[in-house]
Amino acid sequence: MPPTTLFPGVAVVTGAGGVGIGAHVALAFATEGCSRIAITDLNADLLQQTKAKIQATAPQVEVLCESGDITNSQFVSTFMKRVVDKFNRIDYAVNCAGILGQDERSHEMDISSFDAVNNVNYRGCWMSSRAELQEMLKQEPLPGLTPSRPAQRGAIVNIASQLGIVSRPKAAAYCASKSAVIGMTRADAIDYSKDNIRINCVCPGVIRTAMTTGTDEVTERLAPAVRIAPMDRMGLPEEVADAVLFLCSPKASFVQGHAMVVDGGYIIN
Ligand SMILES: NC(=O)c1ccc[n+]([C@@H]2O[C@H](COP(=O)([O-])OP(=O)(O)OC[C@H]3O[C@@H](n4cnc5c(N)ncnc54)[C@H](O)[C@@H]3O)[C@@H](O)[C@H]2O)c1
Repeated sequence: MPPTTLFPGVAVVTGAGGVGIGAHVALAFATEGCSRIAITDLNADLLQQTKAKIQATAPQVEVLCESGDITNSQFVSTFMKRVVDKFNRIDYAVNCAGILGQDERSHEMDISSFDAVNNVNYRGCWMSSRAELQEMLKQEPLPGLTPSRPAQRGAIVNIASQLGIVSRPKAAAYCASKSAVIGMTRADAIDYSKDNIRINCVCPGVIRTAMTTGTDEVTERLAPAVRIAPMDRMGLPEEVADAVLFLCSPKASFVQGHAMVVDGGYIIN
């Protein structure tokens, strides 16, 4: 009998705390029938909130929830191993953890701020996908959507940004970290195609989350960016989650190394 969900496997989401993109991705997996979900975030309280929301929405879902710092390689590999110990495999991995950093031109930015942005957004994303790939390579693929489509050993979606494609003032480190995520996604997509692992990224525009609305200063800082998008509004994290789930699903069986923009038209304007 064919599975009743597009997501019969195991999902892992980093940066899944609170009300951001990662939390909505985790919730979307639950509502779309994924019954084994592992979530992690630096902030233990926000992570518990996401777990509670998943369990309130879909009580049958098994949730592995562990807080930690994805810039710590020991934590990343231990977490991924725990996921496999509990659920036996990793099928859909979404690397969402990220930070915005301060608005500064390069000559004003100190090296520790530069390193902080890159350690989370680029190096942390690479370490997460590296650990996910190490586990995916060991597992048998799941059947394709139809018998004519190839089986899928795993799908990774990295969260980049529209600022990995275009730039804005005073954000050199952030923009570069997100361009790096796009470049890494393409390179890994080439390397792991032969293993039937798909690796794509999503490039959100300005999305209504704690990152963009956490303080009045940030909201004000980003107001001009919202107006650049022809749709003239902030996107919703749910709208990004839908794109992420498509890329993870077997419906995206021939989508590889893509940087899918979900930005209300920001980069075309
Ligand atoms: N919101 C936007 O407008 C927007 C636009 C483009 C890209 N993005 C990207 O989307 C992703 C999610 O952002 P969001 O808007 O949901 O922000 P958010 O702040 O709501 O969520 C990011 C999460 O990452 C976690 N995190 C930060 N550093 C971490 C670390 N070292 N280890 C583990 N977890 C850590 C935070 O605790 C937080 O819960 C980020 O990569 C961000 O750069 C966001």
